[in-house]
Amino acid sequence: MPQLTINGKVCDFEQGQSILEVALANEEAIPHYCWHESLSVVANCRICLGEVWAPNPRNEGKLEAWPKLVPTCQTPCSEGMVVHTDSPKAIGNQKSVMEYLLINHPVDCPVCDQAGECHLQDYAYQYGRAESRFLEAKIKAPKKDIGEHVLLYSDRCIMCTRCVRFTQEITGTGELIVDGRGATEQIDVFPGMGLDNELSANVVDLCPVGALLDKDFLFKKRVWFLTKTPSIDGLTASGDNLTIEHAEGSVHRFKPRPNPAINRSWITDEVRYGWKFVASEDRLNQPQRQQLNELIDCKWDKACEEAKKGIKTAGDKCVLMVSPMLATEEAYLLGQAAKAMSDDVVFAVGPVPVDGQDKTFANGYTISAEKAPNARGVRQALEKVSESVLSYEELCELLADKKSGVKSFILTGNYPSDWVTKDFAKLIGRNFLVLIDTLPSDLVKRANVLMPSVTWAEKDGSFVNHKGIAQAFDAAIPELEGAKSEGQIALDLLKACGQEAKRYNAAAIRTEMGIETAVNEPKADRVESEMVFAEL
Ligand code: FES
Repeated sequence: MPQLTINGKVCDFEQGQSILEVALANEEAIPHYCWHESLSVVANCRICLGEVWAPNPRNEGKLEAWPKLVPTCQTPCSEGMVVHTDSPKAIGNQKSVMEYLLINHPVDCPVCDQAGECHLQDYAYQYGRAESRFLEAKIKAPKKDIGEHVLLYSDRCIMCTRCVRFTQEITGTGELIVDGRGATEQIDVFPGMGLDNELSANVVDLCPVGALLDKDFLFKKRVWFLTKTPSIDGLTASGDNLTIEHAEGSVHRFKPRPNPAINRSWITDEVRYGWKFVASEDRLNQPQRQQLNELIDCKWDKACEEAKKGIKTAGDKCVLMVSPMLATEEAYLLGQAAKAMSDDVVFAVGPVPVDGQDKTFANGYTISAEKAPNARGVRQALEKVSESVLSYEELCELLADKKSGVKSFILTGNYPSDWVTKDFAKLIGRNFLVLIDTLPSDLVKRANVLMPSVTWAEKDGSFVNHKGIAQAFDAAIPELEGAKSEGQIALDLLKACGQEAKRYNAAAIRTEMGIETAVNEPKADRVESEMVFAEL
């Protein structure tokens, strides 16, 4: 493999890779603003310039210095090249660029949401001057509301144009432009039009400074108080990789986690802001059971006992409907629990919401029309415990038949909103019902036993996305008090049926199921923003 040397470190590279790409892959830091792994290269910020020496074939291959500093983000590597971004010349350039960028910058870090994760702040610390030599009045630029989710603070902008390229190259919607030239140029939208596409808030993540900010997160939390847990889209079948950022047990925001094979560097606004039901005040948080036509609070042991007794007493067929919002491991355990409680179980996958058709952008990113994360994984898990697994539609057909013989139900929900249709509630009738769910619905009052469960942000597991890729995720925040994961509820039901008490362990269940290690296993080391901040 060809090699080059970057700041004294010998690095392998592949033909076509830029110096910056190879440096970053080898943990050799080179400052950069305008370069982004998923966008075209424009080399306009000039902070990544490096001093390059390369063998000259016309001079017996002797190393010769190139006459000027070159942008490492745009310069391809070549065999034997020696690059310095830590030489006096390169550092001199970095300092000059920082001084230039800060001339008109308001330096309002104490009130800027980006503080703590701002490249401008980080590089100013490393390469900036302690004092500005600029005595003239700074150019003031306005704050603009440019879209449903995004605010633009123009005077913090460094004109890297990542956001403009995003709307041109990724969404193809082209809402953002560079207006004006020279010192007065600004990012803007066309008059009367806003930043309006399904991926719009990704420009906030792309912005290396505090110019584009997320309205939803604005002034809510300082980023160094946030803990970041790697996770997976738990709302649609995309399998997009994301990070759940949380503090003191509450989710504060979602950010995309780069995965070139799945979502590159993006998530949809639907997923980014769709987590709010996790923090809903309406969340179910108390196991209950029917007594004299009223739901009364009870302990978990009693709820499990009542569920087992009720299903056994009802006799005949019991339906287990596992929601596609649940993890694969949980579906497997629920299947075993249902089998332990009834000799005649009908297995079914819950309703899979679909909204229109998949939408694929020119660059290949796809918005999944399927609004459930794990329809495939749940089916695969149930097929490990039963030869026959019905779809929701097939189940409804079966229930519509008065001779179906179904006498009891174990139903799981965990959807971000009420999922129970009037027709479905009618099909349940007055049969014995164990309901495992997170939010209120028409079925809650009808349930004989109600078991509150937790969302994917509060538990471990794995999802299989619309392309059949299995990915594991970890719990980001603690379980809501009074609720349990469906996996643990299944184990508690098995305990009520006489099996040994166990704690839910998704990784162990994956091994038991024979699922090869799910790809994109979350990293064990959770990133603490506070620690990163302290290092600065
Ligand atoms: Fe190379 Fe901007 S990152 S010029």
